[in-house]
Amino acid sequence: MIRPLPLLLGAAIGLVACAAAARAAAPADTAAGFATRTVDLPSPGAMFSGSGAETLNRDCTMCHSAGFIDRQPPLPAATWRAEVTKMKAIFGAPYAEADIPAIVDALVARQQAAK
Ligand code: HEC
Repeated sequence: MIRPLPLLLGAAIGLVACAAAARAAAPADTAAGFATRTVDLPSPGAMFSGSGAETLNRDCTMCHSAGFIDRQPPLPAATWRAEVTKMKAIFGAPYAEADIPAIVDALVARQQAAK
C-alpha cells in the first residue's frame, strides 16, 4: 500500500534542508543572496567556428555546446542522419526536414576536416 504522508513529509524536510544549505552557502555581500559568478565552459567552447559553423550554430547550439558535438566519435553519414532526425523527431529541434541533408553534410565534412 502507498502511504503518501510520510513521503510528502520526507520531501518537505529535504527541501527545507536544501534551502538552509543554499542560504548558508550564499555570500553575505548581496541582500537577496544572489551573486554574480563566472564559469569557464569546456574547451573547445560553446559555439562552432570553421567548417560548417554557420549551419551547426544555427541548428545545434541552442541545445548543445559545439564541444559536445565535436567530441562525438567519427560517425558515418547514415548515423549522423539518424541522430539529426532524432533531434527533430524526439527532442523538437526546430529545423525543417528539408534542412537535414545539409546538416548531415556539414557534420560529416567537419569530422573529415578535423582528421
Ligand atoms: C531542441 C534541443 C536539441 C537540438 C536543437 C539538438 N539536440 Fe542533440 N540532443 C538533445 C537532447 C535532449 C539529447 C539527449 C541528451 C541526453 O540523453 O542526455 C541530445 C543528444 C544528442 C547526441 C548524443 C547521442 C544521442 O542520441 O543521445 C548527439 C550526438 C546530438 N544530440 C547531436 C545533435 C546535433 C548534431 C544537433 C544539430 C543538428 C542537435 N543534436 C540538436 C537535444 C537537442
